[in-house]
Amino acid sequence: MAAMRENYFDTAVAERYDDPDDVMFSRDVLEPTVDLLAELAEGQAALELAVGTGRVALPLSERGVHVHGIELSQAMVDRLRSKPGAERVDVAIGDMTSTRVEGRFGLVFLVFNTIGNVTTQDDQVAVFENAAAHLRPGGRFLIEVGVPHVGERFAVFDHSAEHVGIDEHDSATQLSWSHHYSSTDGVTFRRRSIPFRKVWPAELDLMARIAGMRLEHRWADWDRSPFTGSSPKHVSVWRKIGA
Ligand SMILES: C[S@@+](CC[C@H](N)C(=O)[O-])C[C@H]1O[C@@H](n2cnc3c(N)ncnc32)[C@H](O)[C@@H]1O
Repeated sequence: MAAMRENYFDTAVAERYDDPDDVMFSRDVLEPTVDLLAELAEGQAALELAVGTGRVALPLSERGVHVHGIELSQAMVDRLRSKPGAERVDVAIGDMTSTRVEGRFGLVFLVFNTIGNVTTQDDQVAVFENAAAHLRPGGRFLIEVGVPHVGERFAVFDHSAEHVGIDEHDSATQLSWSHHYSSTDGVTFRRRSIPFRKVWPAELDLMARIAGMRLEHRWADWDRSPFTGSSPKHVSVWRKIGA
């Protein structure tokens, strides 16, 4: 049984989450994302773990894929529910390590580094097992996640008058803290820190094996470009074993 999970995506975060200036919300990112997910679903229903505000689920459902979601944060789901087309996406509030929804799916997916929001190895394995439990035999589990950082303990990823973002990496624990220092006046800053568990592709493949799945594809991005030693992220697909 998973420990009570901390919700880092509260109302304040949910209100700012959908950002049209963020590349992750751009057509350039979302079109190839939805193209690939729709193809991998092969006409079957799909389940998004950590569906959030529906950044991906809503355009995927517009393509005619029946999308379900599991999400920890009620505030994120409230944002989703305020958008056109939200009635097509069924969402269960709960922890993706253990929450079950009705039905068997052709595709389960977990994008935008969110496997890292589950911060122990046991709980990440539980995510794989829960994904597999929702798949029909031969169904697919897709993850989009960055490759772990190697190098300095602290790395600045954003620096402006209103926001300074610093990642703090610890290779001993595989934990990485994203520290966000935010300000409205450029003088006083408020810190918010979120932990991630970083995981190499090979460890994800072992988790998939434990859950009865095998690697089918590993790409560098949604455009299916080849994954190489210098790829900063990957889009990986495992298939549930069975006829
Ligand atoms: C970076 S957002 C991604 C949301 C959406 N998938 C997207 O691509 O925009 C991470 C989401 O994961 C959710 N989350 C984190 N841990 C979770 C868990 N254990 N179970 C379910 N949802 C979780 C958060 O509440 C948040 O909505």
